[in-house]
Parts: sequence; C-alpha cells; structure tokens
Amino acid sequence: MNASVAALETAKGTAPQPIIETRGLVMRFGGVEVLRGIDFSIVPGELRCLVGPNGAGKSTFFKCLTGQYEPSGGEIRFKNESIGGRPSVDIARRGIGIKTQVPSLYDGLTAREHIWLAVKRRIATTGGLRREVAPAVEQVLESMDIAHLADRIVGQLAHGQRQMVELSMVTAAQPDLILLDEPAAGMTHDEVERLAALVLRLRGTCSLIVVEHDMQFIRMIARMVTVLHQGQVLMEDDVETVLRDRRVRDVYLGKREV
Ligand SMILES: Nc1ncnc2c1ncn2[C@@H]1O[C@H](COP(=O)(O)OP(=O)(O)O)[C@@H](O)[C@H]1O
Ligand SMILES: [Mg+2]
Repeated sequence: MNASVAALETAKGTAPQPIIETRGLVMRFGGVEVLRGIDFSIVPGELRCLVGPNGAGKSTFFKCLTGQYEPSGGEIRFKNESIGGRPSVDIARRGIGIKTQVPSLYDGLTAREHIWLAVKRRIATTGGLRREVAPAVEQVLESMDIAHLADRIVGQLAHGQRQMVELSMVTAAQPDLILLDEPAAGMTHDEVERLAALVLRLRGTCSLIVVEHDMQFIRMIARMVTVLHQGQVLMEDDVETVLRDRRVRDVYLGKREV
C-alpha cells in the first residue's frame, strides 16, 4: 500500500491497528543513548525487515520489545496494550517470541526434546491437556521441515540446522509476533533459501520483524524495510527503494556490492 492509499484508509478509519507500535522509544546505558526516539509500527500479518550497521541498536530495540530491557523513555504498545518495561515472561505470554542472536540450545538434547519443551510450556500456560503435547511436537517437526533431525543430538548438528531448531522452538509457542535477530547468520546458500521460504510461510500465520545483514535474504523475503542508524530510523520504504538510497548505501552498505 502506498502512502496516499494508507492515508485514505486511515481517514476512512479502515486501516488495521498496528500489532506493535513504539513511540519515542529511548534506551540509555549510562550516559549513552543507544535508541534515540524510535517511532515504529507494523500491522498484523506484516513481515518487516530491520537493517542497519553494527551498533545501530537493532538488538537493543528487540530487547526492549521482549522486556529484557526496561526502556528509558517512550512507549511500546502490543495488541493495543502498553507493555514497555513489563517482565519478559509476561510479554512472551502475551504473544511475542524471539530468536536471539545468541544461540540458546541444550547441546545434550535432541531436536525433538527441544520442541517438546517449547510445546509443553505453551500447552501448560494455555491450560491444554498433556496428551496434546506429543502430536503437536510432531506437527511442529513436520511443518518446520526438521523431522529428519528429530532424534539427533543438537550439539552434533550443523550451524544452520541448529538455527532451524531454535526457530522451531519459537514457532512452537505459536506467538502472534516473531522477532528474528540475524536468523541467516552462518547459513549456507541452500539453508538461506529454505529459511526464506519458511519465513514467507510463517507470515501467513503471524507478524514478523526480521533483523538481517544478508541482502540476498532480505530481497527474498522483504517488502517494507526499516533502516536504523545510530539509534534512529533513517528511512522506511520498500526494499528496492531502500537499497538504492544514497544515504543508506553511505551509512550501511558502504562499498559492499548489493
Ligand atoms: N547492555 C549494554 N550496555 C551498554 N551498551 C550497550 C548494551 N547493549 C548494547 N549496547 C551498545 O548499544 C549499541 C547498539 O548495540 P546493538 O543493539 O547490539 O546493535 P546492533 O544489534 O544494531 O548491532 C552499541 O554501541 C552497543 O555497544
Ligand atoms: Mg545485533
């Protein structure tokens, strides 16, 4: 939807409410302002890419959304409720799932055991029955295309396969909004393609914000891209416009071929 259509929709009152929205979000560490007043929103079902150079504040932004950090200022609204500074357990329960940049797997457990942990937690918190767990685990393994890895010890999997197990744990919780922090990092080209197909499929069931450096990957999945630079939104537009933009090339892409 272009800007004028969006304005018209808003005027008619038919624009969807954002699923998540930040207004003037600020995060300071000591005297250093890492997020400097971020206004950001996506609508339900949207897949937004968030890009920007190292240190732009992308992971910090995610950590504010998930409650790992308490913002120093501004507001975060999720499903029309203020969530800024709430405990991360509460925010997860409300429906935000994250795959962080830092892996969080148990090397001694199998892929199936990981999914089992995530499904069991969801079913326990939603008041489901224990007998629902096993079929739900198999369903996640199938839909995430990792059934062939189910009985493998995660510590022995390749990097890209481990990323898929982590992503499957996030989806097993059935969040309404998924945050992915550099999901394609360290993946082979084939793995990146499979991940892109999966992310596009997930978009049908939830909203996603994806932080990524891999421009091939971004081109495969993105429509709208938000560029962060030094803790502020530098621009927001469709992927090709962003990649062509001189300021973006200067601050982010540098001399790299895109
Ligand atoms: N816990 C922290 N304490 C102090 N500074 C931090 C902390 N987390 C991040 N920063 C700083 O905030 C800036 C943004 O970091 P980060 O959000 O990780 O950037 P990105 O994910 O875009 O690479 C960096 O300069 C980083 O050093
Ligand atoms: Mg980061």
